[in-house]
Amino acid sequence: MAKLGGILLIISLAAAMPWAQSFRVQSWAARVEGKQEMVTNLQFYFHDTVSGKNPSAIRVAKAPDTEKSPTLFGAILMADDPLTESPDPNSKLLGRAQGLYGSAGQTELGLIMAMSFCFTDGKYDGSSISILGKNSALTPVREMPVVGGTGLFRLARGYAIAKTHWLDITTGDAIVSYNVTVVHYV
Ligand SMILES: *[C@@H]1O[C@H](CO)[C@@H](O)[C@H](O)[C@H]1NC(C)=O
Repeated sequence: MAKLGGILLIISLAAAMPWAQSFRVQSWAARVEGKQEMVTNLQFYFHDTVSGKNPSAIRVAKAPDTEKSPTLFGAILMADDPLTESPDPNSKLLGRAQGLYGSAGQTELGLIMAMSFCFTDGKYDGSSISILGKNSALTPVREMPVVGGTGLFRLARGYAIAKTHWLDITTGDAIVSYNVTVVHYV
């Protein structure tokens, strides 16, 4: 038993060695020169389809009283909505809005949006922005915060102005124009 314990100790020490070495760095904190800020404006159309055979947003949760609520309070949807160049759903695909939105208002329709807008076109392919905030979806014009980003939009912050371009009141399907202003680094 003692021999086995010794072998196990050696094995675990050997396994620990590479870690010990990789942490031997010059300094734990490093300052780099500030980079230049820039502002980017993005304009695209968001297609949210909740009806039909191939919805792009599906309800994944609800509260016991969601159906009794005039605002469907407590309903949560998972979306993978196309973002296109023009209001035409068949226009050029620029990316996808992936994430959650849920009904967070009891007396007026107020959605909480938690979504990544992941771009797939041109130089922005692979870059994304994160939107987190209230979307008063029945108001013709609303604003949501951009709280971060990846790729070319690393450390982004800004705002998105959303306007309903088209809405089918019976199904809830909508096409929304987005005009996003983000500050990020060159
Ligand atoms: C988009 O937003 C920017 C910044 O808020 C604004 O200057 C520009 O006029 C807007 N464009 C449209 C088409 O609304």
